[in-house]
Amino acid sequence: MNDIPWWSREDLWRKTAIWVTAFMAVVLMALTFDTVRQITEGGERVPAYGVINNKIFYEYDDEHGYQVPRIGETAPLFGEVLDEEAAKSLVALGKLTVQAKNCMNCHTLLGNGAYYAPDLTKAWLDPGWVHEDSREQLMIAFLTDPEGNARTFGTGRRMPNLDITEEEARGVVAFLKWMSSINTNGFPRGFTPLEQEDGA
Ligand code: HEC
Repeated sequence: MNDIPWWSREDLWRKTAIWVTAFMAVVLMALTFDTVRQITEGGERVPAYGVINNKIFYEYDDEHGYQVPRIGETAPLFGEVLDEEAAKSLVALGKLTVQAKNCMNCHTLLGNGAYYAPDLTKAWLDPGWVHEDSREQLMIAFLTDPEGNARTFGTGRRMPNLDITEEEARGVVAFLKWMSSINTNGFPRGFTPLEQEDGA
C-alpha cells in the first residue's frame, strides 16, 4: 500500500473529482446568471421594446469585424411614438404571430429555425426593402399577401399566404424591428444592411 506514489492514490482522485465538479457547478451558475442578464430586454445587448420608436442602423465595427446595431434618432413605426407598455404589447403580438404561424418552419430567428427562406434576424434592414421610407408599407403588403408580392430573390421559392391580418402584420414588423436592434455578435455572418441615410 505504502509504495503507491501519492499522485496515483485512489483517494486523491476521488477528492479531485468532487472538487472539480463542485467548482464547475459554481462556474456554470455564474455563467447562467450572466447569460440571463445579457438576454433580458432593457439591457445593453437587448434593448427595451421602446426601441421601435427609434431609427436602427448598423455600423461596421473594425475591432470585431462585423456590423453592430446602433440606435439613432426618433423614427416611430407607423408614424406613432408608443410608450414602453404599448411597444411591448405590439412586439408581443408580433412574436405570438410568428409562433402561431410557425415562421421557423422556413426562416431562422436569432439562430433558431430553418434555412429554406431568408434569415429574419435582421430582416428589418434587408436591402430587399429598397428604401427606408417605403419599407414599412412594403413589409405589411408582403406579410398580408406574400404570393402577390413575391420577390423570391432568384431562388424560385415563395412564401405561402398565412392569413396574417393587417394588425398582426404590424406586430410582426414591430417584432422584426426590435429583433434587428439586438447585438448578436455579428450573426448572421456577412450581413449587409440596407443603404442608410447616415452610417454605412
Ligand atoms: C413555407 C415557408 C415559409 C413560411 C412558413 C414563412 N415564410 Fe416568410 N418567406 C418564405 C420564402 C420562400 C421567402 C422569400 C421569398 C420572397 O421574398 O418572396 C420569405 C420571405 C419573407 C420575408 C422577407 C425577408 C427579407 O429579409 O426580405 C419576411 C419578412 C418573411 N418571409 C416573414 C415571415 C413571417 C413573419 C412568417 C410567419 C408569420 C413567415 N415568413 C413564414 C417562406 C416562408
